[in-house]
Amino acid sequence: MKILVVVVLLVGGLSSEAAAKANLHDYGDALSKSILFFEGQRSGKLPSNHRLTWRKDSALRDGADDGVDLTGGYYDAGDNVKFNFPMAFSTTMLAWGVIEYGKSMGPDLPHALEAVRWSTDYLLKSTATPGVVFAQVGDPNGDHNCWQRPEDMDTPRTVYKVTEKDPGSEVAAEIAAALAAASLAFKAFGDRPYSKVLLERASKVFEFADKYRGSYNDSIGSGACPFYCDFSGYQDELLWAAAWLHRATKRPIYWNYVVENIENFKPQIEASISEFGWDSKHAGINVLVSKYVLSQSLEGTTPFLSYADNFVCSVLPESPTNTVSFSPGGLLFKSGVCNMQHTTALSFLLLVYTRYLKNSKHVIRCNDVIVAQNQLVGFTRKQVDYILGDNPLSLSYMVGYGTKFPQRIHHRASSLPSMVQQPQHIDCKGGTPYFLTDRPNPNLLIGAVVGGPDIHDRFPDDRMDATTSEPTTYVNAPLVGLMAYFKARSSH
Ligand SMILES: *[C@@H]1O[C@H](CO)[C@@H](O)[C@H](O)[C@H]1NC(C)=O
Repeated sequence: MKILVVVVLLVGGLSSEAAAKANLHDYGDALSKSILFFEGQRSGKLPSNHRLTWRKDSALRDGADDGVDLTGGYYDAGDNVKFNFPMAFSTTMLAWGVIEYGKSMGPDLPHALEAVRWSTDYLLKSTATPGVVFAQVGDPNGDHNCWQRPEDMDTPRTVYKVTEKDPGSEVAAEIAAALAAASLAFKAFGDRPYSKVLLERASKVFEFADKYRGSYNDSIGSGACPFYCDFSGYQDELLWAAAWLHRATKRPIYWNYVVENIENFKPQIEASISEFGWDSKHAGINVLVSKYVLSQSLEGTTPFLSYADNFVCSVLPESPTNTVSFSPGGLLFKSGVCNMQHTTALSFLLLVYTRYLKNSKHVIRCNDVIVAQNQLVGFTRKQVDYILGDNPLSLSYMVGYGTKFPQRIHHRASSLPSMVQQPQHIDCKGGTPYFLTDRPNPNLLIGAVVGGPDIHDRFPDDRMDATTSEPTTYVNAPLVGLMAYFKARSSH
């Protein structure tokens, strides 16, 4: 009996090793491309070293009607709106990837830092006036009604803001989190003065978010909902920002804030244990602070590690308490639009959690199943490999990676002729034929990862189906760190 088991394991071991060889991906290439995507999303005046040359300057008057300079930042997805709430989250994730895995990025590290800075420069402008946080630029209804290049859009660039009187704690706190996380990335990799500026601003913005509590749902109304409506409340962003500020400053005041409020916000935390994305930060808070919890041996006196374990158990397929779904090909699924955002964000958390647990004796238990740390890494790698082409369609979901990838992404700039090809203005409805055509997009938005297949591993490659074919900044942002990790551990 024993001998038989050994034989079976051996055969299993060999075949999975052979499979791993056959599917070896060029994570370094995927890393470079996942960062390059952010250049394609840039708004404002482009620098001379801009690499996606089909994109040009755009939205150079953003903020001017309100007497402020709000140029720069990122277009959110396939549209041309600058939604600061998800933009800030993407920035936090990019920065987190740099903090943990920047050392593995090699020649891409400067590009990754540039990608963070493109956003933080803009977020500094958005928070430059005390008592005001700019929450968004561009009327989403006007923008979504047109299919226009960013370079010649003439839709209303409405400026939305939150104030003491009309607060928006989620958008302000997420910006504070992004600035604090970025300050750590720049501190670790060579720009201390900028790091200091970011951190000082982060603490001021957090104070504003915490002191004037409310949701931007109510304050900016139709600018936020139904686009980036804050469903999960602003309490999680306040905790998340405080956790990042604690990591960046080590000041007990922030730690006490997290510890006190994790109890106050308990119902929301427990209801959202496996949630992590632009709306919901719950699982991220627990994983983020687990580093400090372990270093101070606070696992017995604080609930964070057991919450983080519950998150792991809610994701892994072998866990008896798992709550997410998987396609037959193995891709993680959660309900809602743009599934790939869940795949990348949850995978990132699992990987970072193993990093923090590495030298500890902590054991993750999902009821009676013990989860080994390498199971988390294996799971994450499987998700990443699926994205890169190890799936039933043998299709890479990253534009420009591999030989077979989405051709008709839901993205205005990518699908319309570039300014080089056609310098004449294309107006609001002038773009419609380019939206409707079956032809592939003329401009490759290299590195863009789309919303992805349906739960049966099917992908229509249809520009009109935004849920599957639209890229977003918050799909790519967690991927950057993941690619850096796997790049460092592959033989390429
Ligand atoms: C924001 O609006 C949505 C939709 O109306 C609602 O479900 C949600 O609870 C609101 N969030 C907050 C924090 O008020």
